[in-house]
Amino acid sequence: MKQQIPTRETAEAILSEGLKLNPGKWGDHSRNVAASAEAIGSRIGLDPDTCYVIGLLHDIGRRYGNLQLAHVYYGWKYMNELGYPLCARICLTHSFAMQKLEGYGGAFDLTEKEINELEQNLQSIVYDDYDRLIQLCDNISGASGIMKIEDRISDIISRYPNYPQEKMELTLQLKDEFERRLGTDIYTVTCDGHTVDHY
Ligand SMILES: [Fe+2]
Repeated sequence: MKQQIPTRETAEAILSEGLKLNPGKWGDHSRNVAASAEAIGSRIGLDPDTCYVIGLLHDIGRRYGNLQLAHVYYGWKYMNELGYPLCARICLTHSFAMQKLEGYGGAFDLTEKEINELEQNLQSIVYDDYDRLIQLCDNISGASGIMKIEDRISDIISRYPNYPQEKMELTLQLKDEFERRLGTDIYTVTCDGHTVDHY
């Protein structure tokens, strides 16, 4: 699996370069996804480096600008071009807990051809723990730290008014599923034992 992702150092360099092209909160958000994914994943038998790197690069499509659905498409393309198919896959799957494009709450800022390409590739994937982990961590990671999942979802809904109810329910189920496997709550693990109120 490691050959499908860059090293941590290379991943940091890719993110830094992306942030030079399009500075924004997405950098700190990505770092929080990476840290929380590593914290949760390493405790349930997933590879810590993989969790960190795929978390760090899940939003790398934002290097191209303030895009909505297009950040998924361009991130997926970019990671495949660099030879990191696992990162490309996560760029594609992280926004789709429902595994269908209509589950995206934002604007479809792509051509019809690109949308079809995205949908076909999304449908060809059988989600695994890494896809699900980043979907979860994307929903607990703000720019300034780990957030309660309900607060983070409210924040997303305020920016993406079409966020589907079904997606919210699936995301809350993901939290329950990972907590069952962890044997504790995700905040204890991701906030290093502190409560989320410290963030
Ligand atoms: Fe994200």
